[in-house]
Amino acid sequence: MADAEVVAVMSPTAGNARAFAEKHGIPNHFIDLDAMLAMDEIDMVVIGAPNSVHCEIALKTAKAGKHMVVEKPLCLNLAEADLMIDACKNADVKLMYAEELCFTPKYVRLKGLLDEGALGKPIVLKQSEKHDGPHADHFWDVEKSGGGVTMDMGCHAIEFFRWMNGRTPIKSVYAQMSTSVHTDKTIGDDNAIIILEFENGVTAIAEESWTKLGGMDDRAEIHGSEGVAYADVLQGNSIQTYSKKGVGYAVEKAGNTVGWSFTMYEEIWNYGFPQEMAHFVDCVKNDKKPLVTGEDGKAVLEVIFAAYESAGTHKKVFMPFTSDVDKPYKLWNKRD
Ligand SMILES: NC(=O)c1ccc[n+]([C@@H]2O[C@H](COP(=O)([O-])OP(=O)(O)OC[C@H]3O[C@@H](n4cnc5c(N)ncnc54)[C@H](O)[C@@H]3O)[C@@H](O)[C@H]2O)c1
Repeated sequence: MADAEVVAVMSPTAGNARAFAEKHGIPNHFIDLDAMLAMDEIDMVVIGAPNSVHCEIALKTAKAGKHMVVEKPLCLNLAEADLMIDACKNADVKLMYAEELCFTPKYVRLKGLLDEGALGKPIVLKQSEKHDGPHADHFWDVEKSGGGVTMDMGCHAIEFFRWMNGRTPIKSVYAQMSTSVHTDKTIGDDNAIIILEFENGVTAIAEESWTKLGGMDDRAEIHGSEGVAYADVLQGNSIQTYSKKGVGYAVEKAGNTVGWSFTMYEEIWNYGFPQEMAHFVDCVKNDKKPLVTGEDGKAVLEVIFAAYESAGTHKKVFMPFTSDVDKPYKLWNKRD
């Protein structure tokens, strides 16, 4: 990225930061966060650590006077979100929420179609992310992740809908969740359907799965009064491939690629990660308002809490919904 340089990487896990620094030619690596935050050269920190430590790292980063990008989901609960938002306000640093779907080139074009009126008035929005399950243990442990697939991937759909629908307030949330396949690994939900009702009458439907084989799925639909648009980020852009031997790398979580598979190109660009980070760098460098903020991350978390409450009570939950439970999954079947 022309306007930014990665000057340091930190991880408390022995060897991780060193290996990452060596692989990417980063001049400094740390196992201690305070030592890294003491570096004057650092303007902005990207928090890409497990969900359970987002808040504590954000609070220290704010105290050190650095701007920050926080990976989704913002944190584990609404109290943590408030602490992070307040700390950043008090320290006068930007709290930027890394929802890359707002930068995914195909979805940016999709929003353009909606905004220019080509589809008429939006009626139903759909978005789904599906794969066969996360790669690291902390996602499966609901005490660390806060919840299952709704927390991990539902957060993408919720911010996608808010962004598409001009951040119109949400009226109600209904969710159906199950642990259908991965009962040996988690008590979190591995499949979820979440329905949002917006105050402007738009209905949004998110489908999330950790049990879908054959490669990552990321797609959206807009059904409007004067048109319809379908956008498939991965299969829609990929090379349809048939191989007797299998493909070395096809797409994230491809699994077996013998026979027919879809082979992705420029996967990171197609998701919008470099575009997202370039935007956040521009916000810091030129003091601009980020497209997605800590407040957006908190709004997403409020919907996630409402979704678990709905799945737990089998009822539609009306917004605003707040809960002082420390992790959203606990509202589902009232687990403690
Ligand atoms: N936007 C997206 O599409 C997307 C994709 C993947 C992950 N994520 C998010 O990124 C975060 C990390 O997920 P991941 O897949 O990279 O996990 P990971 O397990 O692959 O990597 C996490 C890293 O954090 C380090 N770590 C652990 N504790 C830490 C601490 N206290 N301080 C600093 N570093 C610490 C680990 O050593 C490891 O290097 C999660 O919040 C996840 O939801 C977002």
